[in-house]
Order: sequence, then C-alpha cells, then structure tokens
Amino acid sequence: MSKIPLKSAADLKAMRISCQMSAEVLQAVAAAVRAGVTTGELDQLAQTMIKKMKAKPSFLGYHGYPAALCVSINEEVIHGIPGAREILPGDLVSIDVGVYYNGFHGDNATTVMVGAVDLDVIRLVETTRRALQLAIAATRPGGRLSDISHAIQCAAEAAGCSVVRQFVGHGVGHHLHEEPQVPNYGAPGRGPVLKPGMTLAIEPMVNLGTAAVVVLEDKWTVVTRDGKPSAHFEHTVAVLEESVEILTLA
Ligand code: MF3
Ligand code: CO
Repeated sequence: MSKIPLKSAADLKAMRISCQMSAEVLQAVAAAVRAGVTTGELDQLAQTMIKKMKAKPSFLGYHGYPAALCVSINEEVIHGIPGAREILPGDLVSIDVGVYYNGFHGDNATTVMVGAVDLDVIRLVETTRRALQLAIAATRPGGRLSDISHAIQCAAEAAGCSVVRQFVGHGVGHHLHEEPQVPNYGAPGRGPVLKPGMTLAIEPMVNLGTAAVVVLEDKWTVVTRDGKPSAHFEHTVAVLEESVEILTLA
C-alpha cells in the first residue's frame, strides 16, 4: 500500500507561498532567456532571487545536483546542468525550478522558444502546454490518478508527439518527491483515488520524435535518443474538496 501524504488547510496555506515563490522565480528566469545569455547566468539569477526570498533552492544538493535550475536545451529533456553554455537563436529552452520555504517545496517548469524556430517545434511546445492544461482539468477529487496520465498521453499522441516514460511527475510537499508517482501515460481509471489535500507536481515531458531517452555521462542530463527536440511544462497543484488549485500559477 502506498502512503500519500494529505495536507491540512494550514499546510496548503504554507505551500501556496513556496509555490508562488517558485512561480515568481520561473517567470523571471523565463523572461531572461535570450540569445547570448549563458545557462549559468540564468542559474545565478534564480539563486539570487531565492536568497532574497529567504528561501532555499529545492534542487541544489538534491542527490548531489549542483544548481538551483535545470536548463535543458533542444534534445535535452530534463536535468540539464547550468554552466558556460550560451543560448543561441532558434534554441528551445526548458527551465525547471523548485523553491523550499517554511517546510514546503514548490516545483514548476516551462519551455521557451528563442527567436524563430521550426513549425514542428511550435507544435511540440503548444502540445506539451496543452497536455499539462488537460491533465490539470482531469485532476478532480474522487477521480483516479491515471486519469491525469491518460490525459497527457492522449494530448501528446493526438498531435503526433510521444511522451517520455522513464521520468514521471510526483507528489510534492515537505519533500520534493513524495508518493504517488504521476506517469505521463496510461489507461484512465487506475491507481489511487484523488483526495482533497493531495499535492502533485504534474510534468509532461514530450518528444517530437520517439519516446526513447538516454542519460549523458554527467549522470544528470536526459536527452532524446533520436536527437529530436523535447519540451517540458510543470505545475504544482492541490486537490481541494470540489476542485483543483494550480499552486504555481504566476
Ligand atoms: N522538477 C524536477 C523533478 O521534480 C527537477 C528535479 S531536479 C533535481 O523531478 F536536481 F532536483 F533532481
Ligand atoms: Co517535478
């Protein structure tokens, strides 16, 4: 039996704050993405903002991860490590950030197109954004976890894209990764019943080519096996008595 932590009203109040912080950082970093900026400079911006908030970056030091942000470019799917790499015109840049404050994490991600990109890439990005929206719309008290997964898979595959299977969304709260895992594929009506007080990080990772991914030698960066681009969007949401709340909505 899995143990899914349920948050009290007070917990949710606290989580709203850490999630709003992570949304604010994500918005600022996404706005700073442009050709010529290095991924390390984006990480510095995030670290400075988080420090000013008297909060902590959720990812820094997590299983040895060396930065506050994950910045994943083009064929990189997730967990790209910021550094000296310069963003170029035409790049597809995924930014992922978590903020820990007052005992709770907030976790969110977005994908930004830099200048002119192929029409296929626009389709990929809009498909992934819509997959997250449809997944949140499928999240309801009394529903089942895999309703979320199914919504994502349908949205991605209907647009001719594929969903990554090796990495999943997750419960989030006192810990960055809590139960349950939230896969981005599967039949509906399975898995745990969604209950008020559950807080989930829903994060579709969608590829333009095949679903296959590999991890680079740095042990973190996940890339598509076929080298085609990938997009990633993430919100932290709370299941309420009669609805779902997007905690990381900026
Ligand atoms: N949003 C990602 C996740 O929830 C980021 C984790 S990166 C890590 O899995 F460095 F913290 F592992
Ligand atoms: Co996450």
